[in-house]
Amino acid sequence: MKEQKKISWGILGPGNIAGQFVKDLVHAEGAQVVAVGSRTKANAERFAEKHGIPRAYGSYEELALDNEVEIIYVATPHPAHKDNVMTCLRAGKAVLCEKPFTMSANEARELTAYAEANKLFLMEAMWTRYLPTIRKVREWLSAGKIGEVRLLKADAGFRSDWNPEGRLLNPKLGGGALLDIGIYPISFASMIFGQAPAKIVSAVHLGETGVDEQFAVTFQYPNGSIANLNGSIRLQVQSDAYLYGTEGYIFIPNFLSARTATLFVAGGEPEIFADHNVAHGFAYEAEEAMQALREGRTASEILTPEETLQIMKTVDAIRAEWGLRYPFE
Ligand SMILES: NC(=O)c1ccc[n+]([C@@H]2O[C@H](COP(=O)([O-])OP(=O)(O)OC[C@H]3O[C@@H](n4cnc5c(N)ncnc54)[C@H](OP(=O)(O)O)[C@@H]3O)[C@@H](O)[C@H]2O)c1
Repeated sequence: MKEQKKISWGILGPGNIAGQFVKDLVHAEGAQVVAVGSRTKANAERFAEKHGIPRAYGSYEELALDNEVEIIYVATPHPAHKDNVMTCLRAGKAVLCEKPFTMSANEARELTAYAEANKLFLMEAMWTRYLPTIRKVREWLSAGKIGEVRLLKADAGFRSDWNPEGRLLNPKLGGGALLDIGIYPISFASMIFGQAPAKIVSAVHLGETGVDEQFAVTFQYPNGSIANLNGSIRLQVQSDAYLYGTEGYIFIPNFLSARTATLFVAGGEPEIFADHNVAHGFAYEAEEAMQALREGRTASEILTPEETLQIMKTVDAIRAEWGLRYPFE
């Protein structure tokens, strides 16, 4: 088999998820991490040592200016995404930015426009999309196995510790269920129905710190199909998805990090797809980004910047219904 051209990664914001991402990059063919950038030199050095990364910078700007780095993975809290991604794009780098892509559609529009004008690769790290199980589900759908999807039920939630200063509950760090975990079922609905909802109805519980700890939202599409979605950062929710079609249904347990999916077609035996890969699953999004770079593309065809922007518009609309605004807005 032909060896893939190596792609050099930089890591921006060496925290919790960046550590997991770097561990998974080992499983992405042709990926090499050459530098890390932190707000503090000590943190960059600690991360670099732990993961065997050659260069450690005490600022994000220095990382962006590293000549060997081709693509930067942005893994800071969401309110920082817009500025951090812009720092990388201005330095001419390709970017893979953690979910949610930005805090608002306006921010997403600004980044997308800059990347497009400068012919730079830009992609949201919505890793669920690139998992083999989810690719299989899309295959089943496009083959019409369950007919027309009329109902999607998808929930996502986990019980975070009570830490009002932490990223999840702190409004200054863009806390709340919608942007952190709710983005998964919302992006999933966008993938399934391929368009923005025509109608949105929602309910929310705003907690002590003022952020949405729990929400429910129903989308209706122009053809009448419905998506029923829940998100929480204070409840251990069974994060499953069910897609009900006119000819059958698909069940995806823990759809965020889907390892299996079962197809039920009326009158037939269930068909089970299982992904036995050992890694966490971040390698697939990295492979997608690298493939695009090798082919000279500026976007992923699986999740385009236009769709990411559309998703952020939906998120804005939900937040507007709740009157949820962040201190920096
Ligand atoms: N794909 C997934 O499964 C997944 C899972 C968890 C999180 N995420 C996403 O990844 C992003 C980061 O989440 P995380 O849990 O990794 O966050 P985190 O550990 O709290 O923060 C990541 C790093 O961001 C940097 N940072 C920059 N500005 C900061 C600020 N004002 N306050 C605190 N840290 C700041 C810090 O690194 P330095 O100070 O060293 O620069 C910090 O270590 C979020 O957008 C989140 O939604 C994705």
